[in-house]
Amino acid sequence: MIEHGTRHNRRVKIDVRPYEGDRRAYLDSIGIGFGEHLDDEAAANFESVLEFDRAIAAYDGDRLVGNAAAISIDLTVPGAVLPVAGVTTVGVHPTHRRRGALRQMMRLQIDDVHRRGEPLAVLWASEGSIYQRFGYGLASLKASLKVKRYRNAFRAPHEFSGRIRLVSEDEARIAFPPVFDAVRPMMPGFFSHSAEFWNAEVFYFPEQWRRGRGKPFHVLHDVGGTIDGYARYAIRDGEENEVSVLDLMAATPAAHLDLWRYLLDIDLMSRVESWNVAVDDPVLLAIAEPRKLEMTMGDALWLRIVDLAPALAARRYRGDGRVVMEVADEFCPWNHGRWSLTVEAGVPYVEPAADSADFACDVTDLAAAYLGGFSFAQLAAAARVSELAPGGIERADALFRTDRAPWCPRVF
Ligand SMILES: CC(C)(COP(=O)(O)OP(=O)(O)OC[C@H]1O[C@@H](n2cnc3c(N)ncnc32)[C@H](O)[C@@H]1OP(=O)(O)O)[C@@H](O)C(=O)NCCC(=O)NCCS
Repeated sequence: MIEHGTRHNRRVKIDVRPYEGDRRAYLDSIGIGFGEHLDDEAAANFESVLEFDRAIAAYDGDRLVGNAAAISIDLTVPGAVLPVAGVTTVGVHPTHRRRGALRQMMRLQIDDVHRRGEPLAVLWASEGSIYQRFGYGLASLKASLKVKRYRNAFRAPHEFSGRIRLVSEDEARIAFPPVFDAVRPMMPGFFSHSAEFWNAEVFYFPEQWRRGRGKPFHVLHDVGGTIDGYARYAIRDGEENEVSVLDLMAATPAAHLDLWRYLLDIDLMSRVESWNVAVDDPVLLAIAEPRKLEMTMGDALWLRIVDLAPALAARRYRGDGRVVMEVADEFCPWNHGRWSLTVEAGVPYVEPAADSADFACDVTDLAAAYLGGFSFAQLAAAARVSELAPGGIERADALFRTDRAPWCPRVF
């Protein structure tokens, strides 16, 4: 096994328990984990979105040395929206790393999520290698792109379907959430935003996050007065001016392409970049020269199936059918075993199975297939899933397959 880093001060005992103390001390501890000193404004923003009754802390004696929190969110999964734990602000102080603090915090957190009856936990990872050992699987991907102005033509002349207008940030604060909430239930990987989240995460863009970009601009897309899309972007000044897309959301494919065309055509700009678009964003097929998007893929949402039977019974499937799966789950033994998924007239039933399994997988693989991000055939090709009965993987894919790739538009 690979040892990550040195194991200094190993004799110090670390205790992990729910946090009950001064809020500012907890917020400062979050900052330390990420190598930052939080100023008052950043601390107040974090405080507004954190749920302190879900905050977990690691201690060396009475000294706070690590933290892991979660926010209660509604996650869209294929055919349903579920209450899940959005794991966030996980960190251990550099003085106390590699001594099991994270492992203890993950244990306490997953047991708490299980007790709360949330079937899933999701997170964005700073490093993808950290969370698989705790049962998180790679559930969605993201792409970033960077396209030069003179290489950004669509394959066909673009006819705008609606109107695009610039609005103030105050207007955007009112207009954006209803559009987002109209799109959210249809898009696996989207999660609900509280008013505090909009304020502290979406519209908060302090100097240290700007990296050369100015104050954001906001546009709305409407057809006949009905707003069905928006974008938020900032300009990065330099030898080559760049449009940095912070947000692009559209309720219709036509609004989506209109907003892209608008962003791609802003005068005096040399480039457009976005750090997080769907891997199957329609712009890829609309543009004349897809290579010029310079798309780069990366991991996005990591998902933990905390309670297997309710999680599998909560989503919807492609058709009727039955599969039996042998699932390994060391960290949550209540999931470990052989399960059947039977879908009848569109309704799924999940129960422990006595008959032989169609395929065997780890709980991380089920997580990777859960939102429709990866097929079992892809997981088998990566030597993660093994077929145990002829056609078993095809039967599973026939149930789990989705039309679009899942996408999580924002980090939490
Ligand atoms: C990542 C971090 C939280 C790990 O905390 P920790 O207390 O040192 O971790 P633990 O000692 O409990 O290690 C748990 C396991 O994770 C592994 N691990 C720890 N840090 C890792 C890393 N950066 N990359 C890969 N694996 C890592 C350990 O080897 C250990 O594996 P094992 O249980 O199979 O032996 C800590 O290094 C940190 O705060 N990093 C900076 C902030 C950050 O990246 N936070 C994550 C945000 S999503």
